[in-house]
Amino acid sequence: MRTTSSGLQNIAKRRLSTGERGPVRALAALILATVLIPSAHAQPLNVLHWWTSDSERQAADRLVQQLASQGVEWHDDAIPGGGGGAAVKVLTGRVLAGEAPDVAQVIGRTLTDWADLGLVLPLDEVAQRGRWRQAMFPVVLQTVSRGGRIMAAPLGVHRINTLLYNHHVWEQLRLAPPRTWRDVEAAAKVLRANHVTPLAWSDEPWQIATVFETVLLSEGGPALYAQLASTQGWAAWQDARVIAALKRLRWLRDLDDDPTTEEPWTSTARRLQSGAAGMLIMGDWARGELQAWGEHAGLDFDCVPVPQTAGMHLYSIDTLAMLVGRNAHRAEQEHMADILAQPATQMAYNQAKGSVPVRTDIDPAQLDTCARDSWQTLARPGAPLLPSITHRMAAVESVREAIGDVLHRFVKTRSVTPQQAQAQLVAIVRGAAQ
Ligand code: BGC
Repeated sequence: MRTTSSGLQNIAKRRLSTGERGPVRALAALILATVLIPSAHAQPLNVLHWWTSDSERQAADRLVQQLASQGVEWHDDAIPGGGGGAAVKVLTGRVLAGEAPDVAQVIGRTLTDWADLGLVLPLDEVAQRGRWRQAMFPVVLQTVSRGGRIMAAPLGVHRINTLLYNHHVWEQLRLAPPRTWRDVEAAAKVLRANHVTPLAWSDEPWQIATVFETVLLSEGGPALYAQLASTQGWAAWQDARVIAALKRLRWLRDLDDDPTTEEPWTSTARRLQSGAAGMLIMGDWARGELQAWGEHAGLDFDCVPVPQTAGMHLYSIDTLAMLVGRNAHRAEQEHMADILAQPATQMAYNQAKGSVPVRTDIDPAQLDTCARDSWQTLARPGAPLLPSITHRMAAVESVREAIGDVLHRFVKTRSVTPQQAQAQLVAIVRGAAQ
């Protein structure tokens, strides 16, 4: 591929030097040579991300393959840790030290904040050439835009309000799909009676916060949730429905008979897969993980929206930002962004990742039942689309971490009342809004 690219580049250069077809052609050739085609000396790009589980690795490898087939080399820089807490810290340190990688998994609020600081390369020309504005969901464009400019290459949309359950266990025990909290409660009784843990739970703060935001949406409804997620919406956190959500959170934790561990999300997914646990509430990357282990949606596991959130999409959109660093790799960075958004890359990556393509022009028949519902909800006019607080779509890093800490203490320490936890949440969000 390298040979082809440099060959094309040489043709472009030759045309330019002989002035074969006048200045317009020459300009086009120059653009081709400097922007679209990686040079003979195309540099590998360092990519910092937190995709280290089996499905995450598979999805990243699919990106690597698509890029390699078009002459772009990905140099892997993975920092493990579900939810990216560790990766974001390492990345921030490197950026502050002037050692930014070329490309990084910078998403949501972090992306727009970093765009304000001039740390990321705007991608308007790539977006224009690739017709991103015509081909992508409006919510995706909005998430990657700042001041009307496109600031990152979008990869896929995850749905956070996902409840997964073990299909075999459900069939064996003849349980109804857990569509309402009453269904969950009824299923839990039967599961317990059959020595199955009703819900796989982990006390890692980011996992608790992930479950909590789905419950906030469930108990509060989309209008309240939208206020909770808005930066100035601290007063909404005083609403009585936040108390209801905190109570529901404790109730859910009690559905795991041994929730004392802070196991990684891949371990809770394993418990669901083995049938040791019946249900799991987690972003649909857990669906990707089950798939990577050979499980099939509709056969081995199923998914439904978290009760009282059907028809709503609590989203987290993964993006790769091209960082402005010491080394000028702009041509390669733009080329990479272009390839990431192409339909073939989108389909290959998202089928492994558990998320859905950011594009509206794909064939939903190629998606499994869980992904199809996610994609169709995004496409449905008027469907409530809500940004994930825990996965950085709405809150800044410090706020999401502080919320995670409060929830962690709340579920682990019974003497903390829901009212006390609520007051702490209000204080955090209020402080950040000022
Ligand atoms: C990311 C996903 C990732 C998950 C678990 C989320 O914040 O958006 O891509 O799979 O964390 O690590």
